[in-house]
Amino acid sequence: MDTPSSFQTDSLIAEDIDAYLEAHQHKSLLRFITCGSVDDGKSTLIGRLLYDSKMIFEDQLAALESDSKRHGTQGEEIDFALLVDGLTAEREQGITIDVAYRFFTTEKRKFIVADTPGHEQYTRNMVTGASTADLAVILTDARKGVLQQTRRHSYLVHLLGIRHVVLAVNKMDLVGYDQQTFDDIVADYRAFATSIGITDFTAIPISGFRGDNITAASVNTPWYGGPSLIHHLETVEVDAAAAQGAAFRMPVQWVNRPNLDFRGFAGQIASGVIRPGDAVRIVPSGKTSTVKSIATFDGDLDEAVAGQSVTLTLADEVDCSRGDLIAAAGDPPQASDQFRATLVWMDEEVMKPGRGYWLKLGTQMVTATVQPPEYEIDINSLEHLAAKTLGLNGIGVAEFATDRPIAFEPYADNRQLGGFILIDKFSNATVAAGMIDFSLRRADNVHWQPTAITRADHAGMKNQTPRVLWFTGLSGSGKSTIANEVEKQLFLMNRHTFLLDGDNVRHGLNRDLGFTEADRIENIRRVGEVAKLMADAGLIVLTAFISPFRAERRMVREMLPEGEFVEIFVDTPLGVAEKRDVKGLYKKARAGNLKNFTGIDSPYEAPESPDIRVNTVDMSPEDAARYIIQQILPLK
Ligand code: ADX
Repeated sequence: MDTPSSFQTDSLIAEDIDAYLEAHQHKSLLRFITCGSVDDGKSTLIGRLLYDSKMIFEDQLAALESDSKRHGTQGEEIDFALLVDGLTAEREQGITIDVAYRFFTTEKRKFIVADTPGHEQYTRNMVTGASTADLAVILTDARKGVLQQTRRHSYLVHLLGIRHVVLAVNKMDLVGYDQQTFDDIVADYRAFATSIGITDFTAIPISGFRGDNITAASVNTPWYGGPSLIHHLETVEVDAAAAQGAAFRMPVQWVNRPNLDFRGFAGQIASGVIRPGDAVRIVPSGKTSTVKSIATFDGDLDEAVAGQSVTLTLADEVDCSRGDLIAAAGDPPQASDQFRATLVWMDEEVMKPGRGYWLKLGTQMVTATVQPPEYEIDINSLEHLAAKTLGLNGIGVAEFATDRPIAFEPYADNRQLGGFILIDKFSNATVAAGMIDFSLRRADNVHWQPTAITRADHAGMKNQTPRVLWFTGLSGSGKSTIANEVEKQLFLMNRHTFLLDGDNVRHGLNRDLGFTEADRIENIRRVGEVAKLMADAGLIVLTAFISPFRAERRMVREMLPEGEFVEIFVDTPLGVAEKRDVKGLYKKARAGNLKNFTGIDSPYEAPESPDIRVNTVDMSPEDAARYIIQQILPLK
């Protein structure tokens, strides 16, 4: 077997620990992912890399030692086999461990390999593992060649922007190290790779089990003149180096203000180079300044590059906070609030078009709503399919809108500034990973027009504080009746009001909407926007809509200034509303003649902590209205 280069490192550790640590610290780091199923020999290959580089985790080593003592053997083959068995068993049991990261090192470089389980339903795990990887090792079995799985993995690797691809043709020992077999597989793969836009890859004939071409050239493949796998991994250019050639960008992680004389912006440089005196622009505000100093724990620097964490101080007192981006003044990134992106859905709950999700891009966190997908991509055939939503592991392309502009780069140019995640606002689960394709031009061309008469002027003229009194409850709960009564009483108090009622708005503005989940979300979004405009005009707005979903009610609350949104839960039990059945709709729904009826076969998510709750069983509409008005006074 080949002698792993790390044996020499071991002796360096023994002789001079300081020299070892020094050398170790300055080694570059390569993150990579291995793609392949268990049958392709993935566990064996990872075991081989860990074994040959002698960087097995300590607990794994201890387990191996006790195992080999138990078995009464010491031989290398046995240790290696045990290690691989251990990895396989760990993975088979570890259904909950989505991605295992393993660390190893050679003399030249440090490595983190993401080991993702190879189930069919693999997309989510692979996206997690690949999102930070510089390189992907795509494994194929020399006896089987390029399979659908190989194509699927390659497509994802390309989609996720991994620039370096290794095609490891494994189990060469089982095909007698036959060159023709290898060449055929490589030609087959090249044809496919080119068709999806992978322009370059490195093909290596290996045997993970026997160790051929892993750490050094194998005598069994004299016809192969390329690098061994480790040699290639040690020498391939890492993305951080490539990012240094791009324009300067640094997302601001936090503002460091220890005293009044120092105000620094801390973050990790995403791309480019920065020096004191360089002109910078804050995005999205557009303010410009120049860099005064580049501070680090070890003192000020004359220059900093992509990958370094630094604190910048600027020559001017400009507004800049967490979530902003500091960029080269002459070459700033785009900022937009509408864009198109490719999404990988990672949650059991399907995507809800129109719903507000948290969108986290670098240090920026905004609310984003997704349109129904333009299409979904069939990961096996790569066909574009029509789709209304995306389910677990689904990949699609969709348009997005955010509640304020964010600075970004297309993912193809910069993975850090073009990649984002979507987070469910209630469960806090990461539901999707996204890659921005481009900004939609309509956002670039539509600008906010400042108006001379402000919302405060409008409200002042009416001598009142705007409010949105948001009534929610089941159909027939009494929302409209009570809202009407509240409006009457406010009118008598000389308040300027307007009532938006579900049934009425659905005759005009929203007459194109039905009662599917998506339509109800859109119904409330529009009503929320209208209510906001009316509140901007200084009015006290009353809305009477079932508004069955917490997420949309919260979305409207967040659109308005603190305290202006008042959620009023008309808490009539289903049994009571159904018994009243003023419009006869419950009867129809029960008979199966009205689909998606709230409370019957469509959900109602009751408010958990409404601002006001009214009980219509014990209270008359007049009393309920008086009670509500008491709660919202004073209105000035
Ligand atoms: S919401 O769910 O989108 O907020 P909205 O308040 O606008 O509903 O409309 C509800 C009214 O539409 C009900 O009061 C009822 O008169 C009528 N309606 C017709 N079909 C349905 C249905 N499937 N579910 C609920 N309400 C319905």
